[in-house]
This record gives sequence, structure tokens and C-alpha cells, in this order.
Amino acid sequence: MEKDLSDYRRSYERQELLIKDVPENPMELFQKWFYEVDKYFPEDENNAMTVATIGLDGSPKSRVVLLKKYTYEGFIFYTNYNSEKGKSIAINPYVCLSFYWQSSERQIIIKGKAERIAENLSDGYFESRPRGSQLGAVISHQSEVIKDRTVLEEELKALEQKFEGKEIPRPPYWGGYIVKPTEFEFWQGRSNRLHDRIRYTLQSDYAWLIERLSP
Ligand SMILES: Cc1cc2nc3c(=O)[nH]c(=O)nc-3n(C[C@H](O)[C@H](O)[C@H](O)COP(=O)(O)O)c2cc1C
Repeated sequence: MEKDLSDYRRSYERQELLIKDVPENPMELFQKWFYEVDKYFPEDENNAMTVATIGLDGSPKSRVVLLKKYTYEGFIFYTNYNSEKGKSIAINPYVCLSFYWQSSERQIIIKGKAERIAENLSDGYFESRPRGSQLGAVISHQSEVIKDRTVLEEELKALEQKFEGKEIPRPPYWGGYIVKPTEFEFWQGRSNRLHDRIRYTLQSDYAWLIERLSP
């Protein structure tokens, strides 16, 4: 099979990113970019991000998850702690997050360290989820091989009966991670492939070093 994509080409012209305009704290630039993409392109799933981990076999793997909260401290997402990514994080907590917002021609890449959030915070978020999502989290032994889909559907029926009229408790194998950032790269597409790239690196005194990278 062969398909030539060499004439797939886009020019990025919409915005610019200059060091003189960026804040000292990268979380504030993240907040500004997120606010803008969410305001102007709310139909996009702007909180979808990839999380890359290093697996137990030494190979990297990335997959999309949903960002559920960000603060000055970091970025929170929820998953199954026994999933492939959960097992990878347990051995090597250094991960990479990335966002690509096509509509605003922007990419953000964040390196950081993932930690489980406090149990009561995971409880709080689990309680806020629709019942179907709660049951899904209980049922799915995420990343395990299963025979077929009926395994999930039968388990769903059984659990719907078991928990009828009752609260569904958060399973201990499901909860949140916070990724505490150590490096950010903000990428703004520009014309002639001369894109703007601004990198923030966390210094030992908790200040951020800000540098421009060649595209
Ligand atoms: C748009 C989108 C959102 C997703 N959100 C999540 C999420 O928030 N948490 C999660 O565990 N998986 C989420 N997934 C599924 C993951 O990409 C992945 O399949 C799953 O977490 C298992 O990954 P692992 O086997 O590498 O651990 C999402 C997938 C997509 C495409």
C-alpha cells in the first residue's frame, strides 16, 4: 500500500508568540491559551490531551485522556491505576502531556511528574460523574485482555441490579493523577514554517527560565 501525503500542507498565520508578551509563570500562559481556545472554539474537545509514559518494557506510549482540572500546582486527569499507564507511572512517574489545538494553530508540551491525588479528591470527582460513567469505571479492568464485549455488558447488567437505588462507591483502582510540571513548551504556528516556540524550564529556586527555541 502507498499513499503520498507530500502535498498535504497548511500555512499557519493566525497569531504570534513573543517573549516580551509572556508571563513569568507558564501556568498563566496555559490559562490564557486554554481560555482563548475554549471561548472561540467551544465545539472542540479542548481538554483532550495526550499523556506519554515510559512502559515497563522501556518503550514510550502515549494516549489521549481528558484534563479535568488545572491549578498553579499542576494538571489533573482520572484513570484506572491498574491500567498500562498506571503501571508505567508506578515505576516511572515522569510523563509528558501534550495539547494540539488545531483551530488556534497551537501546541503545548509539558514534562512533569505524576502523583496520585488525595483519595477524598478522587471520591469527590467520582461522585460528580454520571451513574453510567461510575459503573463503567467499576466494570473496566482497563488495559486487560477480554474475550468479547458481552463480558462488559453482562457485568453492567449485574452491577445495575446490585446498586439499584444505592450509591456506587469509587473503586480503589480508579482515581486521579496530578502532573506537576517541570518544563513547558508553547508552540504557535507561523508562516514559512518559522514558528514561535517558547520554553519554560523550572529552576532550583522555583523560578522559570524562559527561552526561545528555533522552529
Ligand atoms: C477523547 C478521549 C478521551 C479519553 N479520556 C480518557 C480519560 O480521561 N481517562 C482514561 O483513562 N482514558 C481515557 N481515554 C482512553 C485512553 O486513550 C486509553 O485508551 C485508556 O486510558 C487506556 O490506556 P492504557 O492502556 O495505555 O493505560 C480517552 C480517549 C479519548 C480518545
